[in-house]
Amino acid sequence: MAISDADFSVYLEELCEFLRIPSVSTDPKCASSVREAAEWVKSALKRAGFSRVERLETDGFPVVYAEWLEKPDRPTVLFYGHYDVQPPEPLHLWQSPAFEPVVRDGQLVARGVSDDKGQIFCHFKALERLFRKTGELPVNIKILIEGEEEIGSPSLAKFIESHRELLSADLLVVSDTPMFARNQPSVCTSLRGLVYFQIDVRTANSDLHSGQHGGAVPNAIQVLVEILSQLKDEKGRILIPGFYDDVIDYGLDQLNFDEAAYQDALGCTGLVGEEGYTALERRWYRPTLDINGIQGGYTGEGAKTVITCEAFAKLSCRLVANQDPLKVAKQVEAYLNSLAPAYASVTVQNLTAGHEAGAVRVDSDDVGVQAALKALESVWGVKPVLQGEGGSIPVLTTFQKLLGLSPVLMGLNLPEDKIHAPNEQFSLVNFKKGILVAETFYQAI
Ligand code: BES
Ligand code: ZN
Repeated sequence: MAISDADFSVYLEELCEFLRIPSVSTDPKCASSVREAAEWVKSALKRAGFSRVERLETDGFPVVYAEWLEKPDRPTVLFYGHYDVQPPEPLHLWQSPAFEPVVRDGQLVARGVSDDKGQIFCHFKALERLFRKTGELPVNIKILIEGEEEIGSPSLAKFIESHRELLSADLLVVSDTPMFARNQPSVCTSLRGLVYFQIDVRTANSDLHSGQHGGAVPNAIQVLVEILSQLKDEKGRILIPGFYDDVIDYGLDQLNFDEAAYQDALGCTGLVGEEGYTALERRWYRPTLDINGIQGGYTGEGAKTVITCEAFAKLSCRLVANQDPLKVAKQVEAYLNSLAPAYASVTVQNLTAGHEAGAVRVDSDDVGVQAALKALESVWGVKPVLQGEGGSIPVLTTFQKLLGLSPVLMGLNLPEDKIHAPNEQFSLVNFKKGILVAETFYQAI
C-alpha cells in the first residue's frame, strides 16, 4: 500500500515534466504546448499500462482517451480530467517561474499543479501501481482527458455526442475540486454553473478634451459604471428580473466553518453577500454576479484630461440548480440592454454562447460517492464530510444529459492551493495521499 520514497521521487519528477509544458488553452501562443501536453498524457497512460491509448481530435484541442475493459462482469469507471491550465499572469507575483516546478515548504509549486495536472496524475499513478502489482485492474476503466476545460470545454459536448458508445460507463469520477480543509477530506456534492459576458459602451466617435466638451457630452466610463451600479441592491440581491425564479433551496450548510479565519486568511477586512446566508452558502448554494474586469479611458502615468468614448467590462454569473444557463443569459442581456441610456450605444455579448455551464448536484447515496468516502477515510484516517463548491466544470452537465452519468467529485487538493493565481501549489502530503486514495477507490468500487 505505502509508497516508497524511491517511487515517490520518480513520481515527483514525472509530474514536474508535465508541469513544464505551458498548456495554456486560452493563449493562442501556447497552442503547440497544449498539443504537447496531450502527447505527454498519452505516453504517461501508455507507461501506466494501458494498451489502448489514443489522441482523438475535436474541433479544438485533442482529447486523450485510454481504456482497459478486461473484466466484463465488473462495472466500468470513466475518469475525466483536463491537461490544460490557466494563464500564469501576473508573472511578477510568482516566487519562481510558473512553468519551472519547485518544491518549497512541502509544496510543489507550478501553474496547473493542483488544477488539474497533479490531481489527474494521482489517478494515473494509482492505476499504474495496480497494473504493476496484479497485472490487471480491479474494474474496467475509461479515461478521458481534455485540453479545453479552462476555456469552458467548447468542443467537448459535440465530441461526447459523437462518441457516446465509446464513453459509456457505469460511473464518472472527477478529481478537479478541493477537499474541505487540510486533514479534512470530503466529497463534493454540488458545483455551480457559469455564464460570462462582455458589455461594451460607446458614447461618441472619438475621445474628447474634457475642458472643451466636458459637461455636455456623455462619458462612456460614467455610463458603464452607472449600469454596473444597478446590478445588485444594498442587500446583495441581484436585480436582474427573473434571475432567482428557478433557484432551489439547497438546505442549510451544516459544516463547521470559521468565517473570521477565512476573512483573515484572504486579507479581507470584511465579507459581503446576500443577506441571510452564511459565507459557505453564498459560495456554494447561491447564484452570484461578478464584475471580472473593467477597462476604459486613461490609466497611464500622470494625468490626462479626457472624456472617453468607449469602455467595457467583463461580467459573469455563477449559477445554481435549477437555473437554466441559457434562460439566465437572456435575462442578463435583456436587463443590461434595458439600462442603456438613449445617448449611449451598449452592446452585450455572451462569451459562453453555445457552451454555457449548468450547475451540478450529486446524490450522496450514489455508490460512487460511498466508495469515495470509504477510500478517503481509509487513507486519511479521518471521517470525510460532504461539501458543496462554487466553481464550475462545464462539461459535467453534458455527461449527465448524454451518458446519464452523475460525477463522483473526489477532490484531492486543498482550498489554499491558489488555483488560477500566482504560486499555485499542491501539497506533497496530498499528492502522496491522493495516489493512495485513487488506488483504494478503484479497489473499493
Ligand atoms: N478546477 C476548477 C473548478 C473548481 C474550482 C471547482 C474551485 C471547485 C472549486 C476548474 O478547472 C475551473 O477553474 N473551471 C472554470 C471553468 C470556466 C473557465 C468555464 C471556473 O470555474 O471558473
Ligand atoms: Zn481551473
